[in-house]
Amino acid sequence: MIQDMTLLKDIILEAAEKARAEIPDHDEKAENKYTQSVDWPVKCTVGPGLEGAIACESKIGYVNGSKGWLIYRGFNIFDLAANCTYEEVCYLLLHGNLPNQQELEEFKTHLASYRYLNQTLRMVMNFPIETMNAMAALRMGTNLMRQEFTFLDRESGKPGLDSAIGADEDSIPMETIPQGFPSAVYEFEHYQRVNQNQDEATLEDASSIEAAYHLIAGVSTLTAAISRIRRGRMPVEPDPTLGHAANLLYMMTGRKPTPLEERVMDISLILHADHGMNASTFAAMVVASTLSDVYFSVGSGIAALNGPLHGGANEKVLYTLQEIGREDQVKPWLKEKLANKEKIMGFGHRVYKAYDPRARILSPLAEILVRNNPEAEALFKVASTLETEMVGRVGETKKIFPNVDFYSGLVYGSLGIDPSMFTSIFAVSRVAGWTARVLEYLQRNRIFRPRAIYVGELHEKVQPIEDR
Ligand code: CMC
Repeated sequence: MIQDMTLLKDIILEAAEKARAEIPDHDEKAENKYTQSVDWPVKCTVGPGLEGAIACESKIGYVNGSKGWLIYRGFNIFDLAANCTYEEVCYLLLHGNLPNQQELEEFKTHLASYRYLNQTLRMVMNFPIETMNAMAALRMGTNLMRQEFTFLDRESGKPGLDSAIGADEDSIPMETIPQGFPSAVYEFEHYQRVNQNQDEATLEDASSIEAAYHLIAGVSTLTAAISRIRRGRMPVEPDPTLGHAANLLYMMTGRKPTPLEERVMDISLILHADHGMNASTFAAMVVASTLSDVYFSVGSGIAALNGPLHGGANEKVLYTLQEIGREDQVKPWLKEKLANKEKIMGFGHRVYKAYDPRARILSPLAEILVRNNPEAEALFKVASTLETEMVGRVGETKKIFPNVDFYSGLVYGSLGIDPSMFTSIFAVSRVAGWTARVLEYLQRNRIFRPRAIYVGELHEKVQPIEDR
């Protein structure tokens, strides 16, 4: 066991070394426009899809695409993956510091209690989960968690208008030039709901740190239960003696994972926990900025993550590898796809124009897990040949390299997880980043409201219907 753990740590440190050797850190100030506080309103060049737009300041995490850096709260991803657990990383993202022993134990106690979602699971099981998209079921499950644990849906539980000053979008003078922070900050009063019935389980506030803990624990339980129900099995209760990664695997498979499996899952969760203003994080933040709550925000994050250009790619990668089938098929397959201008799933990234550090770690982890499984080993060989071919063709010219989704499917598949659940596993991890960024944003909330350039007609006249 100790041997396995040392091996995994060595793999990560080796990947870190490789990253440093390929892209030396000599030009620390290369991106200082993204790492220094700005004076609002900020000037930036914005492309379609808000590319380049700066929406807020954050201390949670940073991605440097040209250097291949991923940093959570100042710590680089290799250091965190080599030395921390997912629970420590969640605490770091939410609180800004790594926990000491006592803080970690208290946090784990919260997670252990919030892993029990008995009423929620009973409600989930009233729906046709077997035939639902797993992410749709997960999104629904987070709504049901909200229903079970909060009192928001009662009249007395709703935030009053007085809890948000000036948050109504019509009160924002859209036709004027943005003024910057002095007039842009809308006060967010932390509304406290009075819990009328002390006997009922409740979280004080659906936009609190407790709600974040609840969601981190609960999304994992929900994912595991959905996976089992889809296979025609009953959910498995969490085991309070197991950590987050081990519990996830245990609740999915009904078997306690080996220390190697547990640690690989743990590392994988760490790697996916946060990633700047990606589409699902932004979606979660947009919802929160209306003073909706963290449960709705996470539901929106799940919806955005589901798309094949985002978290949905990991499932598609596995099907791609299966479709190619053999190493010697990679070249002709790729030639045809690129000639047809098709996107190859698991490659490319809006921000990374260097090798994605998460893929650097996941690739050797997948290699370890597939050994002794000839079918998985064959897929791994197809994957590494595809990587070599793709990087050889478009790595230098278009800066396209494998992203986090390229090897994660092989890792999850080797851990006994069904491909239809891969994107949900991504959500299990990313819920930490979603909640951390939402809670941070609410400290200086301003409702998101970009504009579109209107390119339509201006002076059309309504014709009688018979003349149209
Ligand atoms: N395969 C082939 N060509 C690609 C790929 C790819 N996977 N990705 C980008 N390109 C090409 C693209 O065709 C374009 O070429 P050209 O300049 O000749 O028109 C150029 O690279 C720029 O592409 P883009 O679509 O403008 O890049 P983007 O920043 O808008 O998109 C992306 C980023 C991730 C959506 C895209 O790379 C993609 O669709 N990748 C496949 C899906 C995938 O793996 N998604 C997971 C992303 S990582 C996990 C996550 O964050 O969720």
